[in-house]
Amino acid sequence: MEFNILTLCYLIGSVTFIIGLKMLSNPANARQGNLIAAGGMVIAILGTIFLYRDEAGNKLHNHGWIFGGIIIGSIVGTLAARKVKMTAMPEMVSMFNGMGGACAALISVVEFNHLVKEAALNSGTGVLYPPLSDLANNDSSLVMPAGQLLIILLGLIIGSVSFAGSMIAWGKLNGGIKDFSFKGQHIFNIVLLLVILGLAVFLVAETPSGSRIIFYIIFALSLLYGVFFVFPIGGADMPVVISLLNSFTGVAAACGGFLYDNKVMLTGGILVGAAGTLLTILMCKAMNRSLANVLIGSFGGDKTGAGSTKQQGAYKEISLSDAAVVMAYANKVIIVPGYGLAVAQAQHACHDLEKILNDKGVDVRYAIHPVAGRMPGHMNVLLAEADVSYEKLQEMEEANEEFPSTDVVLVLGANDVVNPAAKTDPASPIYGMPILDVEMAKLVIVNKRSMKPGYAGIENDLFFQKKTSMLFGDAKKVLQDLIGEIKNL
Ligand code: TAP
Repeated sequence: MEFNILTLCYLIGSVTFIIGLKMLSNPANARQGNLIAAGGMVIAILGTIFLYRDEAGNKLHNHGWIFGGIIIGSIVGTLAARKVKMTAMPEMVSMFNGMGGACAALISVVEFNHLVKEAALNSGTGVLYPPLSDLANNDSSLVMPAGQLLIILLGLIIGSVSFAGSMIAWGKLNGGIKDFSFKGQHIFNIVLLLVILGLAVFLVAETPSGSRIIFYIIFALSLLYGVFFVFPIGGADMPVVISLLNSFTGVAAACGGFLYDNKVMLTGGILVGAAGTLLTILMCKAMNRSLANVLIGSFGGDKTGAGSTKQQGAYKEISLSDAAVVMAYANKVIIVPGYGLAVAQAQHACHDLEKILNDKGVDVRYAIHPVAGRMPGHMNVLLAEADVSYEKLQEMEEANEEFPSTDVVLVLGANDVVNPAAKTDPASPIYGMPILDVEMAKLVIVNKRSMKPGYAGIENDLFFQKKTSMLFGDAKKVLQDLIGEIKNL
């Protein structure tokens, strides 16, 4: 009976996970979806802790360790999630993802040692753990089941790569780790991967328990591969890499599900793996780049703009009062938010501007580029935080149709996503990336703090065009001042 209830717990865990994932695709019910999936996982975890029995009928007994870990993890996770700034969200996701990879790798280490123990017992040698240094031990009687060993090795390699890679991504995003690359690094990475795979095949084919040393060499090399895999990738590409590593963690967790014949772990792992892969593909598509180009190229690694700056001529500025007048007397205004909006935490001021313009009879919309900001859905999350209605948000294709009939476009801390070089300059690193065609509107006002480039490190032709006027300053301060000016009209 208990086993049936446990199966039911796993079914609830799996179904709520799928429902939750589906709900995450719409900002209106994403928060609720997250809670539903988390609730299902709590049921699956509690079911495992209290109802699981092994083949000999033993229940889990080390409750002190389990709940100790859960309590410490929950406190750390809650504090980190509450404290994190919206702009630091990608690095936190990376850190949490790395922990998932580490768990999968550690499961493999534990299960490998169980397998060694079982093989030694079955062989009747009584040697439970052959010493690590016992390289000469090639006793073929100490045989381990190859299928199980294969899954353990997969979990070990993928989990270790995901852990080490995520830690480097985390360090790169918070500025603690500088870019590092050397000539021939990609060749070195390929050779390293081949060595890891070769050793794994050897271990599965030979399976003497004396090969523990090879297992730990594979572990160490996989960690090293994770480090060298992420090191050469440019800063702007980090969210794509994090999403890819996230899918790795899912696959590694699914290996754990296979190993323990645990349905909910298997379902969860496969869903995370599939979702991560799809998100990676979608992000690459939104930047019009192949995954290989992201992994090998260095777009975004150079933030100086050196080599990409060409003399653009003069730009013109607009005063706050003039900007207030043209917006207040417009029929239609489209706001284009970008990374600067998150930096300035100007989402509430932005919503206030929308309301005051609405009061004056202006139709206000938001144009959301799929890779604006620094993580998928960054702008949607920010604007949702300020209670901006989802109906006001327009996706890129829809917004591009609206620009020609728009009086004023207000670009708020966005840069690369409105850079026409993506359409006109084949030499530009962002060439081919679909962008918001803001220059089709009658007037473009660009708010940023200086003429510095955005994440791709390149100048923006838009700022020098006839229709464009610059409104310099921190986005929050500028918006508050604009609201003040409009109120006085
Ligand atoms: P960016 O091109 O990075 O430009 C942001 C602009 O905001 C900067 O030029 C900066 O100029 C301005 N800014 C910064 N702080 C500000 C503040 N307090 N007030 C006003 N302006 C401020 O941003 P974007 O247009 O959103 O493009 C996103 C970039 O990230 C793209 O290159 C994209 O490919 C890349 N990327 C995004 C993702 C995802 S999933 N979102 C994933 C991978 C890569 P000043 O310094 O002069 O103020």
